[in-house]
This record gives sequence, C-alpha cells and structure tokens, in this order.
Amino acid sequence: MAIGGKKIMKFYVLTLFPEMIDSFVSHSIIGRAKEKSIIDIKCVNIRDFSYNKHNKVDDYPYGGGAGMVMQAPPIYKAYESLNKDKSVRVIFVTPSGKTFNQEMVKELSKEQELIILCGHYEGVDQRVIDEIVTDEISIGDYVLTGGELPACVMIDAVSRLTPGVLNKDESFENESFENNLLEYPQYTRPKVFMGREVPEVLISGHHENVAKWRLGKAIEKTAKVRPDLMSLPPSPPAPLPQRERGE
Ligand code: ADE
Repeated sequence: MAIGGKKIMKFYVLTLFPEMIDSFVSHSIIGRAKEKSIIDIKCVNIRDFSYNKHNKVDDYPYGGGAGMVMQAPPIYKAYESLNKDKSVRVIFVTPSGKTFNQEMVKELSKEQELIILCGHYEGVDQRVIDEIVTDEISIGDYVLTGGELPACVMIDAVSRLTPGVLNKDESFENESFENNLLEYPQYTRPKVFMGREVPEVLISGHHENVAKWRLGKAIEKTAKVRPDLMSLPPSPPAPLPQRERGE
C-alpha cells in the first residue's frame, strides 16, 4: 500500500488489551509517524469474538495443570475479521519463540503488513497457532505477563526502519548492532559536566580522527559488554524461516 509512491507499514494486533497498544502508539516518534500516515496500527479485540455469554476467551487446559489457556475460535475469528490472505505474516509473540534481533527487524521492515498475535494466561491453544502463525518471536529470555509489551517493542523497532519514520537527525546508520558493534558514546553541551570533560578529539573538527575514535570506542564497548557480537559473521544471517500454515 502506498500514498503518493510512499510505503505505508500496517500493523494489525490481535489482543485482549487494545488500550495498551493504542496508548503506546499515540506518542513520540511512532505517534508522529501514525499521524503522518507512514504507519498504521489497528487493534482487534479478541474478546469481541468470544462465543460465550460471559465473554470468556480462555478455558482450563486439557490434561490438567495450572492456569488457563486462550481458546482457538475467538483468536481465529479475530484473525479472519481482518480478511487478509495467507501471504501476510502472522507473528505470535511468545517467550518460546526465536529471539528478536536487529536482523529480524530489518527483514520484517520489508513487509507491507504484519499481524501480531498477543497471548495471555498460560498459553494459547496450539491448534490456532498451527493454523495461522508464520513466525514465533520472543523479545528476550524472560517471561512477561502478556504479549502486548513485546508487540509494542516489535512495532517500534520495525516502524523506525520504515522510510520517513525517522527524520534525518534521527538516522540509524551509526547505531548499535550495525556492523555487529554497539554504539560509541555521545556527548553534547556543556563541555564540562561535574568535572568530566568532553573528549578533546570531538571538538577538534578533524572528521577522520573523530571517526577513528568512535570506531575504537565502539569496538572497546562491544568487546567489554557483548563479546558474543564480535564473533558473528559480518554479513547478515539468512532470513527468518517462515513456517508453513495449515490449509
Ligand atoms: N510473552 C511473555 N513473555 C514474552 C517474551 N519474553 N517475548 C515475547 N512474548 C512474550
């Protein structure tokens, strides 16, 4: 989809808590991009598709065990209400997915539309995952109470790579994870803060020396904090494998 030749990135979020997503996407850079119609975010409330008079969307797990499981039919109906064909990727945010990283962000930002499914309770009935989900993604090795924060994390990271979302002062060329390096330290006025001075080279006006100093600092920081990144191959890894969906 495009307006005047420009791409619009569309996110559809299947969730029980649309307010959490709506509140996040109405602020700051993402809010601005939404207002400028560079991105669009639509929430679908799974509860609207409950087939139960108490509006319940969860039930006890077959086989027993603690907690409740989100039922398949309301999620499937919420998905169907979007009327999208199977070429649109459906991302289920879950701690048991592949760990999200900047390479995935780049890959996902090439899509025109993404559907994100947020889970809650103890899990989601596997059959609806098998039926509609193409990618399972975790935002890190910890467990949150639901998928809404991870969905916001993904929307934020993917949106900022959408052309037009960042202005030129917010460019992402030299940021962390480009070239497998963390970002070099930044300084701004005042020149002295609590007795700490801005490194001399940054006020020298010598661009080549500034670039060398920044690269050195990026390497130093990465070696100290994330040595694992430095052993990665310099070229991007293969794209995320997409899972076949049930027919
Ligand atoms: N839901 C709960 N915890 C999560 C995580 N770490 N990543 C993605 N979705 C989640």
